[in-house]
Amino acid sequence: MGSAFSCCGSDKEDEGASVVTPGNATWRMFTYKELHTATDGFCDDNKLGEGGFGSVYWGKTTDGLQIAVKKLKSMTSKAEMEFAVEVEVLGRVRHKNLLGLRGYCVGTDQRLIVYDYMPNLSLLSHLHGQFAGEVQLDWRKRMKIAIGSAEGISYLHHEVTPHIIHRDIKASNVLLDSDFEPLVADFGFAKLIPEGVSHMTTRVKGTLGYLAPEYAMWGKVSEACDVYSFGILLLELLTGRKPIEKLPGGMKRTITEWAEPHISKGQFKDLVDPRLRGNFEENQLKQAIGVACLCVQSEPEKRPAMKDVVHMLKGYGSGGKVMQTRMNSIKYKEELLALDQTSDDEDGGPDESYGVFGAMEMQKMQDPTTNIKKRNNMPNMFDKL
Ligand SMILES: Nc1ncnc2c1ncn2[C@@H]1O[C@H](COP(=O)(O)OP(=O)(O)OP(=O)(O)O)[C@@H](O)[C@H]1O
Ligand SMILES: [Mg+2]
Repeated sequence: MGSAFSCCGSDKEDEGASVVTPGNATWRMFTYKELHTATDGFCDDNKLGEGGFGSVYWGKTTDGLQIAVKKLKSMTSKAEMEFAVEVEVLGRVRHKNLLGLRGYCVGTDQRLIVYDYMPNLSLLSHLHGQFAGEVQLDWRKRMKIAIGSAEGISYLHHEVTPHIIHRDIKASNVLLDSDFEPLVADFGFAKLIPEGVSHMTTRVKGTLGYLAPEYAMWGKVSEACDVYSFGILLLELLTGRKPIEKLPGGMKRTITEWAEPHISKGQFKDLVDPRLRGNFEENQLKQAIGVACLCVQSEPEKRPAMKDVVHMLKGYGSGGKVMQTRMNSIKYKEELLALDQTSDDEDGGPDESYGVFGAMEMQKMQDPTTNIKKRNNMPNMFDKL
Protein backbone atom coordinates (compact mmCIF):
# COMPACT_ATOMS: atom_id res chain seq x y z
CA MET A 1 0.00 0.00 0.00
CA GLY A 2 2.74 2.34 1.05
CA SER A 3 4.60 2.30 -2.22
CA ALA A 4 1.47 2.93 -4.22
CA PHE A 5 0.51 5.94 -2.22
CA SER A 6 3.95 7.40 -2.07
CA CYS A 7 4.16 7.00 -5.86
CA CYS A 8 1.07 9.10 -6.21
CA GLY A 9 2.25 11.65 -3.74
CA SER A 10 -0.60 10.88 -1.37
CA ASP A 11 1.54 11.31 1.69
CA LYS A 12 0.33 14.88 1.34
CA GLU A 13 -2.84 14.94 3.35
CA ASP A 14 -3.87 18.46 2.35
CA GLU A 15 -7.34 18.12 0.97
CA GLY A 16 -7.97 19.95 -2.26
CA ALA A 17 -4.33 20.21 -3.31
CA SER A 18 -3.89 18.94 -6.82
CA VAL A 19 -0.90 16.78 -7.48
CA VAL A 20 1.11 16.46 -10.65
CA THR A 21 2.36 12.90 -10.96
CA PRO A 22 5.26 11.68 -13.12
CA GLY A 23 2.68 10.94 -15.85
CA ASN A 24 1.74 14.61 -15.64
CA ALA A 25 -1.86 13.80 -14.72
CA THR A 26 -3.50 16.00 -12.11
CA TRP A 27 -5.81 14.78 -9.38
CA ARG A 28 -6.68 15.67 -5.83
CA MET A 29 -7.76 14.06 -2.62
CA PHE A 30 -11.41 14.19 -1.61
CA THR A 31 -12.87 13.91 1.87
CA TYR A 32 -15.51 11.28 2.55
CA LYS A 33 -17.94 14.04 3.50
CA GLU A 34 -17.42 15.77 0.16
CA LEU A 35 -18.14 12.59 -1.79
CA HIS A 36 -21.06 11.72 0.46
CA THR A 37 -22.62 15.11 -0.31
CA ALA A 38 -21.80 14.90 -4.04
CA THR A 39 -23.56 11.54 -4.41
CA ASP A 40 -26.50 12.41 -2.16
CA GLY A 41 -25.38 9.95 0.47
CA PHE A 42 -24.50 7.27 -2.09
CA CYS A 43 -28.19 6.87 -2.75
CA ASP A 44 -29.46 4.10 -4.99
CA ASP A 45 -30.88 6.55 -7.53
CA ASN A 46 -27.35 7.71 -8.23
CA LYS A 47 -25.92 4.23 -8.61
CA LEU A 48 -24.42 3.70 -12.06
CA GLY A 49 -23.67 0.05 -11.55
CA GLU A 50 -21.83 -2.52 -9.58
CA GLY A 51 -18.66 -4.38 -10.40
CA GLY A 52 -16.47 -6.93 -8.73
CA PHE A 53 -14.99 -4.52 -6.24
CA GLY A 54 -17.82 -2.23 -5.37
CA SER A 55 -20.47 0.14 -6.58
CA VAL A 56 -20.12 3.18 -8.80
CA TYR A 57 -22.18 6.31 -8.10
CA TRP A 58 -22.84 9.45 -10.11
CA GLY A 59 -22.17 12.68 -8.23
CA LYS A 60 -21.71 16.42 -8.60
CA THR A 61 -19.14 18.40 -6.63
CA THR A 62 -19.87 21.84 -5.18
CA ASP A 63 -17.91 23.40 -8.06
CA GLY A 64 -20.23 21.69 -10.54
CA LEU A 65 -18.00 18.85 -11.75
CA GLN A 66 -19.85 15.63 -12.58
CA ILE A 67 -18.00 12.65 -11.16
CA ALA A 68 -18.25 8.88 -10.90
CA VAL A 69 -17.26 7.53 -7.50
CA LYS A 70 -16.21 3.92 -7.09
CA LYS A 71 -16.78 2.81 -3.51
CA LEU A 72 -14.94 -0.38 -2.61
CA LYS A 73 -17.30 -2.79 -0.92
CA SER A 74 -14.95 -4.46 1.50
CA MET A 75 -11.71 -3.42 3.04
CA THR A 76 -9.95 -6.74 2.94
CA SER A 77 -6.23 -6.64 2.39
CA LYS A 78 -6.92 -7.89 -1.14
CA ALA A 79 -9.32 -5.02 -1.87
CA GLU A 80 -6.83 -2.62 -0.38
CA MET A 81 -4.17 -3.97 -2.69
CA GLU A 82 -6.45 -3.55 -5.71
CA PHE A 83 -7.14 -0.02 -4.63
CA ALA A 84 -3.44 0.70 -4.31
CA VAL A 85 -2.72 -0.77 -7.73
CA GLU A 86 -5.52 1.21 -9.33
CA VAL A 87 -4.42 4.49 -7.79
CA GLU A 88 -0.79 3.88 -8.62
CA VAL A 89 -1.49 2.94 -12.22
CA LEU A 90 -4.01 5.69 -12.81
CA GLY A 91 -1.54 8.21 -11.49
CA ARG A 92 0.94 7.21 -14.17
CA VAL A 93 -1.20 7.42 -17.26
CA ARG A 94 -2.48 10.23 -19.38
CA HIS A 95 -4.03 9.61 -22.77
CA LYS A 96 -7.19 10.76 -24.51
CA ASN A 97 -8.48 7.18 -24.57
CA LEU A 98 -7.77 6.24 -20.95
CA LEU A 99 -9.99 7.21 -18.04
CA GLY A 100 -7.55 8.91 -15.70
CA LEU A 101 -7.82 9.53 -12.00
CA ARG A 102 -9.74 12.60 -10.80
CA GLY A 103 -8.99 11.83 -7.19
CA TYR A 104 -9.46 9.45 -4.32
CA CYS A 105 -10.46 9.28 -0.70
CA VAL A 106 -8.87 7.23 2.04
CA GLY A 107 -11.01 7.03 5.18
CA THR A 108 -10.37 4.82 8.19
CA ASP A 109 -12.48 2.02 6.73
CA GLN A 110 -13.36 3.42 3.30
CA ARG A 111 -11.58 3.55 -0.03
CA LEU A 112 -13.11 5.53 -2.87
CA ILE A 113 -11.83 6.38 -6.35
CA VAL A 114 -13.09 9.42 -8.22
CA TYR A 115 -13.25 9.62 -12.03
CA ASP A 116 -14.80 12.03 -14.47
CA TYR A 117 -18.38 11.02 -15.18
CA MET A 118 -18.84 9.71 -18.71
CA PRO A 119 -22.28 10.83 -19.93
CA ASN A 120 -22.66 8.08 -22.51
CA LEU A 121 -21.79 5.44 -19.91
CA SER A 122 -20.17 2.27 -21.18
CA LEU A 123 -20.01 0.46 -24.50
CA LEU A 124 -21.84 -2.35 -22.74
CA SER A 125 -24.85 -0.17 -22.07
CA HIS A 126 -25.10 0.65 -25.80
CA LEU A 127 -24.59 -2.89 -27.08
CA HIS A 128 -26.51 -4.92 -24.52
CA GLY A 129 -27.83 -2.60 -21.83
CA GLN A 130 -30.10 0.37 -21.31
CA PHE A 131 -29.35 2.09 -24.66
CA ALA A 132 -29.30 -1.10 -26.74
CA GLY A 133 -32.74 -0.42 -28.23
CA GLU A 134 -31.92 3.15 -29.28
CA VAL A 135 -29.05 2.25 -31.63
CA GLN A 136 -26.96 5.36 -31.14
CA LEU A 137 -23.88 3.51 -32.34
CA ASP A 138 -23.72 3.99 -36.08
CA TRP A 139 -20.82 2.61 -38.14
CA ARG A 140 -18.68 5.74 -37.82
CA LYS A 141 -19.01 5.74 -34.03
CA ARG A 142 -18.16 2.04 -33.87
CA MET A 143 -14.97 2.57 -35.87
CA LYS A 144 -14.06 5.52 -33.66
CA ILE A 145 -14.59 3.36 -30.56
CA ALA A 146 -12.54 0.49 -32.02
CA ILE A 147 -9.61 2.72 -33.01
CA GLY A 148 -9.69 4.88 -29.87
CA SER A 149 -9.79 1.98 -27.44
CA ALA A 150 -6.99 0.26 -29.40
CA GLU A 151 -4.96 3.48 -29.10
CA GLY A 152 -5.53 3.61 -25.35
CA ILE A 153 -4.36 0.02 -24.89
CA SER A 154 -1.46 0.57 -27.27
CA TYR A 155 -0.33 3.49 -25.09
CA LEU A 156 -0.41 1.23 -22.00
CA HIS A 157 1.58 -1.47 -23.79
CA HIS A 158 4.11 0.60 -25.67
CA GLU A 159 4.45 4.07 -24.20
CA VAL A 160 4.15 3.91 -20.42
CA THR A 161 7.26 2.83 -18.53
CA PRO A 162 7.05 0.25 -17.11
CA HIS A 163 4.56 -1.18 -19.57
CA ILE A 164 1.07 -1.86 -18.29
CA ILE A 165 -1.09 -4.86 -19.08
CA HIS A 166 -4.74 -4.08 -18.42
CA ARG A 167 -6.04 -7.67 -17.94
CA ASP A 168 -9.72 -6.74 -17.95
CA ILE A 169 -10.51 -5.32 -21.37
CA LYS A 170 -14.27 -5.64 -21.85
CA ALA A 171 -17.32 -3.63 -22.93
CA SER A 172 -18.16 -2.31 -19.43
CA ASN A 173 -14.62 -1.00 -19.13
CA VAL A 174 -14.86 1.07 -22.31
CA LEU A 175 -16.60 4.30 -21.30
CA LEU A 176 -17.95 6.85 -23.76
CA ASP A 177 -17.74 10.63 -23.43
CA SER A 178 -20.30 13.06 -24.84
CA ASP A 179 -18.75 12.70 -28.34
CA PHE A 180 -18.60 8.91 -28.09
CA GLU A 181 -14.84 9.08 -27.76
CA PRO A 182 -13.92 5.84 -25.93
CA LEU A 183 -12.00 5.88 -22.66
CA VAL A 184 -10.65 2.58 -21.39
CA ALA A 185 -11.22 2.33 -17.65
CA ASP A 186 -10.35 0.16 -14.67
CA PHE A 187 -6.74 -0.50 -14.13
CA GLY A 188 -7.38 -2.25 -10.81
CA PHE A 189 -6.45 -5.52 -12.42
CA ALA A 190 -3.43 -4.10 -14.14
CA LYS A 191 0.01 -5.27 -13.39
CA LEU A 192 3.12 -3.20 -13.81
CA ILE A 193 5.62 -5.11 -15.89
CA PRO A 194 9.28 -4.63 -15.06
CA GLU A 195 11.56 -3.77 -17.96
CA GLY A 196 12.83 -6.79 -19.90
CA VAL A 197 10.18 -9.22 -18.65
CA SER A 198 8.12 -10.67 -21.46
CA HIS A 199 5.45 -12.34 -19.38
CA MET A 200 4.56 -12.95 -15.77
CA THR A 201 2.71 -15.81 -14.18
CA THR A 202 -0.02 -14.65 -11.89
CA ARG A 203 -3.43 -15.46 -10.50
CA VAL A 204 -6.07 -15.39 -13.18
CA LYS A 205 -8.57 -12.56 -13.08
CA GLY A 206 -10.79 -11.26 -15.80
CA THR A 207 -14.06 -11.97 -17.48
CA LEU A 208 -14.86 -15.27 -19.11
CA GLY A 209 -15.39 -14.84 -22.82
CA TYR A 210 -12.61 -12.27 -23.08
CA LEU A 211 -9.91 -14.41 -21.47
CA ALA A 212 -6.98 -15.52 -23.61
CA PRO A 213 -6.54 -19.31 -23.39
CA GLU A 214 -2.95 -19.23 -22.12
CA TYR A 215 -4.02 -16.83 -19.38
CA ALA A 216 -7.14 -18.78 -18.36
CA MET A 217 -5.27 -22.07 -18.30
CA TRP A 218 -1.81 -21.24 -17.08
CA GLY A 219 -2.06 -17.73 -15.73
CA LYS A 220 0.44 -16.47 -18.29
CA VAL A 221 0.09 -12.73 -18.57
CA SER A 222 1.54 -10.77 -21.40
CA GLU A 223 0.42 -7.90 -23.59
CA ALA A 224 -0.95 -10.58 -25.93
CA CYS A 225 -3.71 -11.35 -23.37
CA ASP A 226 -5.04 -7.82 -23.80
CA VAL A 227 -4.77 -8.24 -27.58
CA TYR A 228 -6.94 -11.36 -27.36
CA SER A 229 -9.54 -9.56 -25.21
CA PHE A 230 -9.49 -6.64 -27.61
CA GLY A 231 -10.19 -9.06 -30.50
CA ILE A 232 -13.29 -10.30 -28.67
CA LEU A 233 -14.34 -6.71 -27.90
CA LEU A 234 -13.92 -5.80 -31.57
CA LEU A 235 -16.09 -8.71 -32.67
CA GLU A 236 -18.70 -7.69 -30.11
CA LEU A 237 -18.67 -4.12 -31.43
CA LEU A 238 -19.02 -5.22 -35.07
CA THR A 239 -21.62 -7.90 -34.54
CA GLY A 240 -23.56 -6.58 -31.54
CA ARG A 241 -23.40 -10.06 -29.98
CA LYS A 242 -22.23 -10.96 -26.49
CA PRO A 243 -18.89 -12.74 -25.99
CA ILE A 244 -20.85 -15.71 -24.64
CA GLU A 245 -24.51 -16.18 -25.47
CA LYS A 246 -27.07 -18.57 -24.15
CA LEU A 247 -28.81 -20.68 -26.76
CA PRO A 248 -32.48 -21.72 -26.39
CA GLY A 249 -31.64 -25.22 -25.09
CA GLY A 250 -29.48 -23.75 -22.33
CA MET A 251 -26.23 -24.38 -24.17
CA LYS A 252 -23.76 -21.50 -24.32
CA ARG A 253 -21.78 -20.40 -27.35
CA THR A 254 -18.78 -18.11 -27.66
CA ILE A 255 -18.76 -15.28 -30.17
CA THR A 256 -15.82 -16.88 -32.01
CA GLU A 257 -17.75 -20.16 -32.40
CA TRP A 258 -20.64 -18.20 -33.87
CA ALA A 259 -18.47 -16.11 -36.19
CA GLU A 260 -16.15 -18.81 -37.47
CA PRO A 261 -18.45 -20.43 -40.11
CA HIS A 262 -19.42 -17.03 -41.55
CA ILE A 263 -15.79 -15.96 -41.78
CA SER A 264 -14.54 -19.16 -43.39
CA LYS A 265 -17.26 -18.82 -46.06
CA GLY A 266 -16.38 -15.14 -46.57
CA GLN A 267 -19.91 -14.08 -45.51
CA PHE A 268 -18.82 -10.87 -43.85
CA LYS A 269 -22.14 -9.08 -44.26
CA ASP A 270 -23.85 -11.77 -42.18
CA LEU A 271 -21.61 -10.87 -39.27
CA VAL A 272 -22.46 -7.23 -38.98
CA ASP A 273 -24.89 -6.00 -36.30
CA PRO A 274 -28.39 -6.05 -37.87
CA ARG A 275 -29.19 -2.88 -35.91
CA LEU A 276 -26.98 -1.02 -38.41
CA ARG A 277 -29.58 -1.89 -41.10
CA GLY A 278 -26.88 -2.39 -43.72
CA ASN A 279 -25.26 1.01 -43.13
CA PHE A 280 -21.60 0.13 -42.92
CA GLU A 281 -18.39 0.35 -44.95
CA GLU A 282 -17.76 -3.07 -46.41
CA ASN A 283 -13.99 -2.66 -46.77
CA GLN A 284 -13.64 -1.42 -43.21
CA LEU A 285 -15.75 -4.32 -42.00
CA LYS A 286 -13.53 -6.85 -43.78
CA GLN A 287 -10.40 -5.20 -42.43
CA ALA A 288 -11.78 -5.09 -38.89
CA ILE A 289 -12.89 -8.74 -39.00
CA GLY A 290 -9.41 -9.61 -40.28
CA VAL A 291 -7.87 -7.77 -37.33
CA ALA A 292 -10.17 -9.59 -34.89
CA CYS A 293 -9.13 -12.93 -36.41
CA LEU A 294 -5.47 -12.06 -35.88
CA CYS A 295 -6.09 -10.96 -32.29
CA VAL A 296 -7.93 -14.09 -31.15
CA GLN A 297 -5.40 -16.63 -32.40
CA SER A 298 -4.71 -19.19 -29.70
CA GLU A 299 -0.92 -18.83 -29.94
CA PRO A 300 -0.09 -15.54 -28.20
CA GLU A 301 3.09 -14.99 -30.21
CA LYS A 302 1.09 -14.93 -33.45
CA ARG A 303 -1.17 -12.10 -32.28
CA PRO A 304 -0.27 -8.61 -33.47
CA ALA A 305 1.02 -5.90 -31.15
CA MET A 306 -1.57 -3.26 -30.23
CA LYS A 307 0.30 -0.61 -32.20
CA ASP A 308 -0.11 -2.81 -35.31
CA VAL A 309 -3.78 -3.26 -34.46
CA VAL A 310 -4.22 0.54 -34.44
CA HIS A 311 -2.38 0.75 -37.76
CA MET A 312 -4.52 -1.94 -39.37
CA LEU A 313 -7.79 -0.51 -38.07
CA LYS A 314 -6.84 2.81 -39.59
CA GLY A 315 -6.50 1.01 -42.91
CA TYR A 316 -2.71 1.11 -43.25
CA GLY A 317 -2.09 -2.56 -44.00
CA SER A 318 -1.38 -5.52 -41.79
CA GLY A 319 2.09 -4.70 -40.45
CA GLY A 320 3.59 -7.86 -41.94
CA LYS A 321 0.96 -10.14 -40.40
CA VAL A 322 -0.82 -12.47 -42.81
CA MET A 323 -4.51 -11.66 -42.69
CA GLN A 324 -6.54 -14.65 -41.54
CA THR A 325 -9.45 -16.13 -43.39
CA ARG A 326 -10.44 -18.30 -40.46
CA MET A 327 -11.08 -17.68 -36.81
CA ASN A 328 -9.98 -19.83 -33.90
CA SER A 329 -13.08 -20.86 -32.11
CA ILE A 330 -12.53 -21.41 -28.44
CA LYS A 331 -15.05 -23.65 -26.74
CA TYR A 332 -15.09 -23.42 -22.97
CA LYS A 333 -15.82 -26.53 -20.94
CA GLU A 334 -19.43 -26.82 -19.80
CA GLU A 335 -18.54 -26.69 -16.10
CA LEU A 336 -16.76 -23.39 -16.64
CA LEU A 337 -19.62 -21.97 -18.69
CA ALA A 338 -22.00 -22.92 -15.89
CA LEU A 339 -20.19 -20.41 -13.69
CA ASP A 340 -20.66 -17.63 -16.19
CA GLN A 341 -23.45 -15.19 -15.39
CA THR A 342 -22.81 -12.89 -18.29
CA SER A 343 -25.25 -14.47 -20.74
CA ASP A 344 -28.02 -15.45 -18.35
CA ASP A 345 -30.33 -12.59 -19.19
CA GLU A 346 -32.27 -14.00 -22.13
CA ASP A 347 -34.89 -11.34 -22.58
CA GLY A 348 -32.49 -8.93 -24.25
CA GLY A 349 -33.46 -6.21 -21.77
CA PRO A 350 -31.12 -4.02 -19.80
CA ASP A 351 -28.36 -6.24 -18.60
CA GLU A 352 -26.09 -4.30 -16.34
CA SER A 353 -25.14 -7.35 -14.30
CA TYR A 354 -23.17 -8.58 -17.30
CA GLY A 355 -19.55 -8.32 -16.30
CA VAL A 356 -19.99 -9.21 -12.63
CA PHE A 357 -18.08 -12.34 -13.50
CA GLY A 358 -15.08 -10.07 -13.78
CA ALA A 359 -14.39 -10.33 -10.10
CA MET A 360 -13.95 -14.07 -10.28
CA GLU A 361 -10.57 -15.56 -9.72
CA MET A 362 -10.01 -18.89 -11.32
CA GLN A 363 -7.63 -21.40 -9.95
CA LYS A 364 -4.38 -21.06 -11.78
CA MET A 365 -3.29 -24.21 -13.51
CA GLN A 366 0.14 -25.69 -13.86
CA ASP A 367 2.14 -24.23 -16.71
CA PRO A 368 2.58 -27.18 -19.10
CA THR A 369 5.89 -25.89 -20.36
CA THR A 370 7.42 -26.43 -16.94
CA ASN A 371 6.15 -29.98 -16.57
CA ILE A 372 5.21 -31.82 -19.74
CA LYS A 373 4.29 -34.99 -17.83
CA LYS A 374 1.67 -33.26 -15.76
CA ARG A 375 0.16 -31.67 -18.85
CA ASN A 376 -1.37 -34.94 -19.99
CA ASN A 377 -3.30 -35.26 -16.73
CA MET A 378 -4.15 -31.63 -16.44
CA PRO A 379 -7.80 -30.67 -16.47
CA ASN A 380 -8.48 -28.42 -19.41
CA MET A 381 -10.84 -25.48 -19.44
CA PHE A 382 -11.22 -25.68 -23.18
CA ASP A 383 -12.52 -28.46 -25.37
CA LYS A 384 -10.62 -27.20 -28.35
CA LEU A 385 -7.77 -24.79 -28.83
N1 LIG B 1 -16.68 7.22 -15.03
C1 LIG B 1 -17.81 6.57 -15.26
N2 LIG B 1 -18.84 7.19 -15.88
C2 LIG B 1 -19.98 6.51 -16.15
N3 LIG B 1 -20.19 5.22 -15.83
C3 LIG B 1 -19.22 4.55 -15.20
C4 LIG B 1 -17.97 5.18 -14.87
N4 LIG B 1 -17.17 4.27 -14.26
C5 LIG B 1 -17.88 3.11 -14.22
N5 LIG B 1 -19.09 3.27 -14.77
C6 LIG B 1 -20.10 2.22 -14.91
O1 LIG B 1 -20.44 1.72 -13.63
C7 LIG B 1 -20.66 0.31 -13.71
C8 LIG B 1 -19.84 -0.41 -12.65
O2 LIG B 1 -18.48 -0.28 -12.99
P1 LIG B 1 -17.36 -1.23 -12.38
O3 LIG B 1 -16.06 -0.88 -13.00
O4 LIG B 1 -17.45 -1.20 -10.89
O5 LIG B 1 -17.83 -2.68 -12.83
P2 LIG B 1 -17.68 -3.48 -14.18
O6 LIG B 1 -16.89 -2.68 -15.19
O7 LIG B 1 -19.02 -3.94 -14.62
O8 LIG B 1 -16.87 -4.74 -13.72
P3 LIG B 1 -15.35 -4.82 -13.16
O9 LIG B 1 -15.46 -4.77 -11.67
O10 LIG B 1 -14.88 -6.13 -13.64
O11 LIG B 1 -14.63 -3.64 -13.76
C9 LIG B 1 -20.32 -0.13 -15.12
O12 LIG B 1 -21.50 -0.25 -15.88
C10 LIG B 1 -19.50 1.00 -15.66
O13 LIG B 1 -19.58 1.10 -17.06
MG1 LIG C 1 -15.30 -1.61 -14.75
